[in-house]
Amino acid sequence: MRVLVAEPISQEGLTKLQAELETDIRYGLSRQELLRVIGHYTGLIVRGHIRVDDELLGRGKRLKVVGRAGTGVDNIDVEAATRRGILVVNAPESNTVSAAEHTMALLLGQMRNLPLATALVRKGRWKEARIRGVEVLGKTLGIIGLGRIGSLVSQMAQGMGMRVVAYDPYIPLERFERFGAERMATLEELLHCSDFITVHTPKNEETYGMIGKREFQLMKDGVRVVNCARGGIINEEALYQALKSGKVKSAALDVFDQEPCRENPLFELDSVAFTPHLGAMTVEAQRKVGKAIAEEMIRAMKGELVRYAVNLPSVKPKLLPHISPYISLAERMGSLYTQLFRPQMGEVEIQYRGEITDYNLQLVTTGFLKGLLNPILEEKVNLVNASLVAEERGIKVKETRMRQSDDKGSLLTLQGKEGKVSGTVYGKKDLRITGIDGFQVDFVPSGHILIDYHSLPHTTTPGIIGQIGMVLGRAGVNIKKIQVEGDPQREMAMMVLNIDNLLPPEAKEELLKIEGLLEVRPIKL
Ligand code: NAD
Ligand code: MLT
Repeated sequence: MRVLVAEPISQEGLTKLQAELETDIRYGLSRQELLRVIGHYTGLIVRGHIRVDDELLGRGKRLKVVGRAGTGVDNIDVEAATRRGILVVNAPESNTVSAAEHTMALLLGQMRNLPLATALVRKGRWKEARIRGVEVLGKTLGIIGLGRIGSLVSQMAQGMGMRVVAYDPYIPLERFERFGAERMATLEELLHCSDFITVHTPKNEETYGMIGKREFQLMKDGVRVVNCARGGIINEEALYQALKSGKVKSAALDVFDQEPCRENPLFELDSVAFTPHLGAMTVEAQRKVGKAIAEEMIRAMKGELVRYAVNLPSVKPKLLPHISPYISLAERMGSLYTQLFRPQMGEVEIQYRGEITDYNLQLVTTGFLKGLLNPILEEKVNLVNASLVAEERGIKVKETRMRQSDDKGSLLTLQGKEGKVSGTVYGKKDLRITGIDGFQVDFVPSGHILIDYHSLPHTTTPGIIGQIGMVLGRAGVNIKKIQVEGDPQREMAMMVLNIDNLLPPEAKEELLKIEGLLEVRPIKL
């Protein structure tokens, strides 16, 4: 497994990667070079400059993971990655503090006209009226997007005696209360009442240009604005006009529509302060980002669950050990179901019982879909694209949960119109299949398994077991474990054999000649 680090990350991150994975550090590759070499790599690490689009992902025939050393993934076509089953991970918490502190610097710096004051002092000028500042105490700060950075900015601003209002339609009221921000039901409400406005949303179709000409008109006269999120969330042309007209008193920008930004009409204006995308550029943040993305890449490459997956349902890091075995169980149950029943895949029902229902089970459900689809599809189905592939194939999933369970702890059941499989986890990670179609079984879902159904006239059963053993012995297939479960009402029995190696097709044919043996299914999990 080879990882390409295509943009700079901290030495600490590089050292971690090099200790665990074959790592190539190749900064400054041209687009053409990157397209040419990407096919050699299973992992790619970028920051914000390299465009990881469908073309690049398509050339990455071996690519499994793209790591974004930072927060914003607007340079990555996440949808295309998902379609291709490529996991995208980022390091979103590592630069939150730096970005929030930089936002405060941009806010306070413009309150006291620092850029202009510096320029004047350099020219030998002193205390001009136009550089008189304002205090922030008691003023209203409007925060658009109360996520990681927005919420920290809220706390910092309150520490300076500001009133904070926030607009974020995607979070519960409880989060506004937790971070001491008054919830604004609409963006307009926030624009009307804020003395200063700062944006902290991701850049996407909805937010790009969300602050434009109309929004500036709705703001208070003399408002001051900050953009330390992504260029273009505040429309640059509209901002220019609003500054020229005096509607906006001043602004500070860390990010630009086009980066690097070498020319911009805004550069003419003394009322704007600029930094060249410095929000995360602190010693501490860079160290943390490098380390975090290296750890994510290593985890993903080892097939472990990652902490910050962009295109997978997220699981809180401390819950990972509880959820992981159930994801693994669900994958095996799904695969067993498909190999055993050869279903048509219309609708499946997944039932969760017991303690497991206390957790977010999205990934476990995705695990079932991955298991169901993998044995029958040519394309690679993994946790990243399983839900999408299932949706494309019209598979409907019904999920039910019941907190109460019998004595088995947590129980998972997969039911379709063809049959039913149940399973559980003993202890911390001992996976077991506990039921198939009403037969109570207890076997480890791993390796080669042979499942047969045979009729149950009492006299035949011992004979059948012996005959099966002989056929397998002749074929050189070693039996590790056998269990037989009869059902007198159906006059049928099920036998599950854990075997050492693949059942040769001739041996299967021979088995089917045994009288009373109804069906044989070799399964590989
Ligand atoms: P986050 O995902 O934690 O928070 C984003 C918040 O925006 C969420 O609460 C979300 O609900 C909200 N939101 C989404 N759409 C919205 C809309 N239309 N209106 C209002 N709210 C909306 O992200 P974060 O880590 O806080 O990062 C925020 C931004 O800062 C991102 O754009 C990120 O790329 C950028 N960033 C910049 C730098 C820098 O160097 N300048 C550093 C880190 C992050
Ligand atoms: C981020 O999204 O993490 C920041 O914009 C910083 C960066 O891209 O390095």
